[in-house]
Amino acid sequence: MKISKTSNSRIQTTDFTNLKFGTVFSDHMLICKYSDGKWGSSEILPYGPIPVNPGMQVLHYGQAIFEGMKAFKNEDDKVLLFRKEENFKRFNKSSIRLSIPEIPEDIFMNGLDNLISLDSDWCKNKEGYSLYIRPFVFASGECIKASSSEEFTFIIITSPTTTYYAGEVNVVIEEEYTRSTLGGVGFAKAAGNYAASFYPTKQANLKGFTQLIWTDAKEHKYIEESGTMNIWFRIGDKLITPSLSDSILGGITRDSIVSLAESNGIEVQQRRILITEIVEAYNKGTLKEAFGTGTAVTVNPIKSITFRENKMELENQEDSFALKLKTELQGIQKGSIVDTYNWTSIVS
Ligand SMILES: Cc1ncc(COP(=O)(O)O)c(C=O)c1O
Repeated sequence: MKISKTSNSRIQTTDFTNLKFGTVFSDHMLICKYSDGKWGSSEILPYGPIPVNPGMQVLHYGQAIFEGMKAFKNEDDKVLLFRKEENFKRFNKSSIRLSIPEIPEDIFMNGLDNLISLDSDWCKNKEGYSLYIRPFVFASGECIKASSSEEFTFIIITSPTTTYYAGEVNVVIEEEYTRSTLGGVGFAKAAGNYAASFYPTKQANLKGFTQLIWTDAKEHKYIEESGTMNIWFRIGDKLITPSLSDSILGGITRDSIVSLAESNGIEVQQRRILITEIVEAYNKGTLKEAFGTGTAVTVNPIKSITFRENKMELENQEDSFALKLKTELQGIQKGSIVDTYNWTSIVS
């Protein structure tokens, strides 16, 4: 792999005490291109602008997918990656659905290792810090016919980060707009899914909500996800989360929380969840917690859920499942709790 190091690192002039999520980038990026039916060799170069022609297909048809993953520094200053195999699998699952050629495992994994070890100083060994990693691929062929591209560009960039959501999370159940449909691309991390979510999310923000809860496209009766998080409810002492389908993104945090909850003796149900079931549980006093899970936030407690005119406020629980599972997950990710699941790997 060709590696061109920057002669002008930005690390000394970066204010790590004031990182706005996703706006600060480490010194280098990895690029690999696909043309003539095959992936070429990867290259690491200083983070910076890339050539874009106005006829580039991604600009017209949105043929692009991405991943979001995190690295953490442990007490010995070693960088730990969390469940990278799962992100790799999901990357290619998304690619297949968007008619993008799959990326070979060695390009993805060696790319991650080389890039992160080169920029490991951007991953701080401090409470709350991590390095957010964004692999993505897009149609880079020049052609404005509505067709799948014959050229693609795979890039990995990284961004130092601290805690994502600050403050209370107040969500509203969305009954008009839909994030995704059965048979659609909701299970994939397709760029267009996010573009389509911005307008409804903005409407919810204008009404004072942090995020919205997506419901099924057909009847708007079943709960799907909350913003860019999988959603969980604690009813009594059981945890329930929507079962995966074409229209829900199978979160890697979600999968980890299922395992952690079950090994803590908590019953987990993965099934369809009616909005009315949540309202009834709240009215009976059995809805004790709600939280979202995702790479950026890990576990994020939800303070209130609004359904039509009804605002359901959730009290802090002394024996909060969200807090317990979050502490355990973050401990494993940072290497302060023994990883009996084999989820973490050291960047060499
Ligand atoms: C729509 C959506 N749902 C759920 C998640 C959570 O997935 P993960 O836990 O793999 O980050 C994400 C990504 O963060 C997402 O974009």
